[in-house]
Amino acid sequence: MPRHKVTVVGAGNVGATTAQRIIETGLADVCLIDIVPGLPQGKALDLMEAAPVVGYDVEICGTNDYADTAGAKVAIITSGLARQPGMSRDDLLAKNAAIVRSVTEQIVAVSPDAIIIVVTNPLDAMCHVAMQASGFPRERVIGMAGVLDSARFRAFIAQEMQVSVRDVRAFVLGGHGDTMVPLPRYSTVGGVPITELLSAERIEQLVDRTRNGGAEVVALLKSGSAYYAPAASVVEMVESILFDRKRVLPCAYYLQGEFRTSGLFVGVPVVLGAGGAERIFEIELAADEQAAFDASAASVRELVDKLG
Ligand code: NAI
Ligand code: 2OP
Repeated sequence: MPRHKVTVVGAGNVGATTAQRIIETGLADVCLIDIVPGLPQGKALDLMEAAPVVGYDVEICGTNDYADTAGAKVAIITSGLARQPGMSRDDLLAKNAAIVRSVTEQIVAVSPDAIIIVVTNPLDAMCHVAMQASGFPRERVIGMAGVLDSARFRAFIAQEMQVSVRDVRAFVLGGHGDTMVPLPRYSTVGGVPITELLSAERIEQLVDRTRNGGAEVVALLKSGSAYYAPAASVVEMVESILFDRKRVLPCAYYLQGEFRTSGLFVGVPVVLGAGGAERIFEIELAADEQAAFDASAASVRELVDKLG
């Protein structure tokens, strides 16, 4: 069977680390593309030269030309600007929207059947831009955030309970921002909800740390943001799609009435398979959980409205 091809747009921290993880696990051939001449070529060459040592035999290409990315099964968009001094959040929103719109159009022109995974921030609004620019059905435009936010929650729970991360499951839904919605009732250790294992006060502290997970890393790094956990999260989604695993993972997905929300990308559990986000895995939310979800959706809607 021929190997699948994955396009990674943006050869920065998240893009290059994602490419590295995909080829090291032998999931697919990867084409890394960036607007900066030489950057994707240099990183691809470096990764290719690691192959004999690490032992992978998939192909990696680096390019500034979308023609080289043609025929991708999955296209991951990590291209974007970080907020610069003097740049408002709204400036960043407009600039990254222009980047995501342009790269989406170029991906679609050469990979019309691709499944797009958006990573660029502000995540939920950028998914909206990619869906509009691609004209793809909602199954084929998915945002990565929930896997990362849930991984952070899982890591903090495992640390707190002194257990293996393997036995901790968690769901963080809602938009990727301060209003995200960690769901302790659906977060378990060895199948037992953490609401039965930890005090409400301690859970609230772990929830807060999760909501600030991205900012905590930024504050330590001083420049740039997290990329190891984000890249690992993207690759978990890619693997489920390429192997048609039908994993149930929290992803930003275009809601059409589900979870009481319409016309908006918000993080919800979806079944990820060869067709992309094949269906929503609907779960019951208690009144307070639904209220938190609604508030999170409202903050995403505010950003999308600013896009016009
Ligand atoms: P980075 O600055 O290291 O890399 C961004 C890359 O995009 C740069 O190499 C830049 O040259 C490239 N780029 C800019 N405009 C482009 C264009 N028009 N075409 C192609 N490439 C272009 O940033 P990093 O750390 O890789 O983060 C990338 C994005 O992902 C940011 O928006 C960041 O906020 C977001 N992010 C989102 C996460 C999530 O959970 N959704 C998690 C981590 C990062
Ligand atoms: C994060 O959560 C920056 O969105 C990114 O780390």
